[in-house]
Amino acid sequence: MSSPVILVVFSILVVLYLGKSFIPWQKKLLDLPIMTLPEGSSDFRPVVKAGYEKYPDQPFQLQVQGRLLTLIPLKFINEIKSLPEWQLSSKQEIRNLFQGRYTGIGHNSKTMVSTVKVDLTRYISKTLEALQDEMEFAADRNIGACEEWTPVYLYPALLRIVALISGRVFVGLPLNRNEDWIRISINFTIVSFMASQKFASIPAWKRPFVVPFSPETRAIKRHRAEAVRLLTPIIQRRVKDMKDPNFKRPDDMIQWALENATGTRESSVDRQADIQLTLSMAAIHTTSTTVCHCLYDLCAHPEYLEPLCEEIESVLAETGEKMTKVSMIKLRKLDSFIKESQRLSPPGLVAMRRLVMSHITLSDGTVLPKGTSIAVPSWGVTRDGTLWNDPETFDGFRFAKLRAVPGSENKHQFAMTGPDSLSFGHGVHACPGRFFAGNEIKILLSHILLHYHVKIESGLRPENRINGLGISTDPTGKVLFKKRERKV
Ligand code: HEM
Repeated sequence: MSSPVILVVFSILVVLYLGKSFIPWQKKLLDLPIMTLPEGSSDFRPVVKAGYEKYPDQPFQLQVQGRLLTLIPLKFINEIKSLPEWQLSSKQEIRNLFQGRYTGIGHNSKTMVSTVKVDLTRYISKTLEALQDEMEFAADRNIGACEEWTPVYLYPALLRIVALISGRVFVGLPLNRNEDWIRISINFTIVSFMASQKFASIPAWKRPFVVPFSPETRAIKRHRAEAVRLLTPIIQRRVKDMKDPNFKRPDDMIQWALENATGTRESSVDRQADIQLTLSMAAIHTTSTTVCHCLYDLCAHPEYLEPLCEEIESVLAETGEKMTKVSMIKLRKLDSFIKESQRLSPPGLVAMRRLVMSHITLSDGTVLPKGTSIAVPSWGVTRDGTLWNDPETFDGFRFAKLRAVPGSENKHQFAMTGPDSLSFGHGVHACPGRFFAGNEIKILLSHILLHYHVKIESGLRPENRINGLGISTDPTGKVLFKKRERKV
């Protein structure tokens, strides 16, 4: 091609690219009411709740950080919850929200999701012993003996405890106790999310020129390279051992993910490392935050300490000091307490974030065109007076009482999802790790409740942090721990 032709072709490509970048990310595609934050406010809680109450029968839009998010009322949840990825995509929405092209967030491998959904759930009772064993070690190292009242920065301590105990099931001993691995499995999430926020603030047309050379991209790459370095010898060893007919198959995620990936591109060490990093991203901060909310709630409502300890002690007395699958089911008060804590402090103000890939017509005739970002206004659900008695009040045994109603014994459990229970999402993409998380949280809290007294000096619960549509705990909150003598 002669140089003028190259120049023309290049100019056309640049114009097309820039044009694409300058089009607002999502135009006002729909003729629906729009809710916005009041001038000077950054708290979306009242806005989401007001929209939920005002528009129970019709979708509405929320103006969030320059984008329009279409919020779908609960009455349509069954119409959208099982739609296939080609029509309503979870992955694409996450990629867009977190700059997946540059951060890798949202590139969940099929192997990773199905390994959690199928294998982790299938072997869940086998994980209980390892979780309890690791919890002893983790509490000893991160809370300590606490002969006297000892202040502990709760969230950082929980991050390390959860990294250790989930790591025991994900990568096994000794890697889960390796300080480099603990650091990577906690920090990869932080580094990636901070990078996504930074990249989003760069104009779209500039990103391809700036982002690849940014310190954030280098930090993400460094974490990936370190994960590969640490996992390589373990994976190579496993692959070799798997050829031995006498090989005793370990029950951990490395093993299940390797087996599920056999013969595919996902079996490479790089891809397996990515699976482990994505797993840490999905599991560690979410679980630590949930436990942190529970402990803050316990300190703010100390009247629950005694009945919860009694329940745990009586369940342990039946099974000889070790928690079993049956113990997990029997811890009904604890299950209820965790679920109530999560109801009042869910992970976000909206749930089931999806991108419409091919237009969807709801049963009332509303058309959601391709390109529409949708979600469900779950914050409204958590505060809905028609669903909950006294919805703003913390009632730790609310769900245990609901389960005491004949016919409802198996309903209202922590790991269950439904239109009134959206903290783990709902439908095809509902969190596949929620059963494991439920057990892990029960084991963690049982250990703390049995071995320590806990309180907050002021008695006041540290305030939750609202960041856009996300909710997190106060990471600077301190809880006082003191050794508790066991009654059993
Ligand atoms: C209390 C802790 C946890 C919370 C609150 C939580 C919450 C969530 C939520 C809200 C979603 C999105 C659901 C949707 O869009 O409908 C999700 C997805 C996911 N979670 Fe969890 N999660 C937790 C723990 C875990 C754990 C421990 C694992 C792994 C063992 C895990 C693995 C995943 C995976 C793989 C997905 C993606 C599912 C898919 O794309 O189909 N999560 N989680």
